[in-house]
Amino acid sequence: MGDPKFRRIQRELKLHKPDPRLILPEPLIEFKRLVGSGCPVSDLFSATEQLGRELKKELEKIGQLERDIRGAYNLMSAPDRAAFLSMIYSRFAENYDRHMGIETGHYQAMRFVLRYAHMVHRFGFPLLDVTAGTGELIRYAMELDNGNGLICANDLSEKMLAKAKEKLGNGRVFFHNHDACCFPDEWEGKFRTVLLSQTLNLLTDEDKIRLITSVKKVMDDGGKVIVIEEDPFGVTQTDAIQSVAMFIRGVGEPITPSELNAFFVTSGFTRYPEHAVAEIDGNHNMKVYIFTRK
Ligand SMILES: C[S@@+](CC[C@H](N)C(=O)[O-])C[C@H]1O[C@@H](n2cnc3c(N)ncnc32)[C@H](O)[C@@H]1O
Repeated sequence: MGDPKFRRIQRELKLHKPDPRLILPEPLIEFKRLVGSGCPVSDLFSATEQLGRELKKELEKIGQLERDIRGAYNLMSAPDRAAFLSMIYSRFAENYDRHMGIETGHYQAMRFVLRYAHMVHRFGFPLLDVTAGTGELIRYAMELDNGNGLICANDLSEKMLAKAKEKLGNGRVFFHNHDACCFPDEWEGKFRTVLLSQTLNLLTDEDKIRLITSVKKVMDDGGKVIVIEEDPFGVTQTDAIQSVAMFIRGVGEPITPSELNAFFVTSGFTRYPEHAVAEIDGNHNMKVYIFTRK
């Protein structure tokens, strides 16, 4: 570390203000500059070790914050948990499509598995998307079935729903803002097909059961629920998801395919053996599961 050139670089680095648009943590920005400055290998090695230690500390801090969020979230009442989730998604609404459709491969993978589900079990109507988000899945469903069957788009977050209205408001789709864990009694037995996409991983196990029970109530006998979830669950770090990533990781209890199956079967659904998988990226896949209400 005694090399004068290295000391000069260190001084320079202290003066350097990282570009706020970069999502890299500060130690990483400094490290990248160091690599580009041609310092001796031994200094680079020490800097690498230092970087590793700093990143580990950062990750530990984030992990602790996520555990704190989870602790607080688990103490909330069910309506407060719903309000909190709604706030997270209202904050994310503006950037959601960019994250899911441009910066990651989620939408492409959802489209692929939904097409498969439609091929093996044509959609029935009325159709309900329980957590419609910005309406992208309904948009694909309408491409696959361009008839005039009634479609309901439901979501907790008004801002997500507003995005869905911009995309889908053509008269065939009706919009609702219910907590899917407690759909109204007037909806009992109304829906023939239900879509549930990328939601179970965000819920506590208790809320998963409340939501599945509520979904069962609004389906008619023999109706089908098409569940689309990523496996394994993970938040792909992009600029668009930055402001809510910590919350999303904090609130949910990730679910494996066999747990998902068990939640539905023990709630009175029969699983169809068909399934389809589409790669989102090298780290995880999108999977579709189809259940019928007994
Ligand atoms: C990850 S997004 C998925 C959106 C859409 N299904 C998709 O696959 O792109 C989760 C959505 O679920 C909604 N959500 C979460 N819990 C809900 C609940 N209990 N009732 C209704 N919507 C809920 C959120 O507001 C958010 O729009």
